[in-house]
Amino acid sequence: MERTLLIIKPDAVERKLIGEIIQRVERKGLEIKALKMENITVERAEKHYEIHKGKEFYNGLIEFITSGPVVLMVLEGKDCISIVRHMAGSTSPVDAVPGTIRGDFSMDTLRNIVHTSDSVETSTREIKNFFKNID
Ligand code: PPS
Repeated sequence: MERTLLIIKPDAVERKLIGEIIQRVERKGLEIKALKMENITVERAEKHYEIHKGKEFYNGLIEFITSGPVVLMVLEGKDCISIVRHMAGSTSPVDAVPGTIRGDFSMDTLRNIVHTSDSVETSTREIKNFFKNID
């Protein structure tokens, strides 16, 4: 059984989309193993996005993800990493298909509603970064 990290980003919290996104997750049949709301520290954000360090959008990304409260969820289910990525939709708003979370709610590559893990390796690392006591 796979696990993945889903972050509802500050833009979505501000736009009151938490319920909408959780509803999609539950309707799909994914199991919510852990859920919390918090302001991510710069230190934890830098660890989370370390793979993007040096890219031209990195500083803006750290500033954005630490700009307000987020909701973090650990989701579980068979093949849930790619299932949740498909539900999120493409990073580019041009490619994000209607019906996906980004396709329905975002016009922006930065303020794009959700983050989801992209592989088993990153999901393990990302979940550990935010959830210390999860079994
Ligand atoms: S990349 O360039 O292929 O690594 O991009 P990707 O893995 O799709 O997403 C990288 C994360 O950075 C955020 N972000 C941007 N990506 C690309 N270009 C620009 N200009 C940009 N600005 C911000 C993007 O939303 C991804 O965030 P997460 O939270 O990982 O989805």
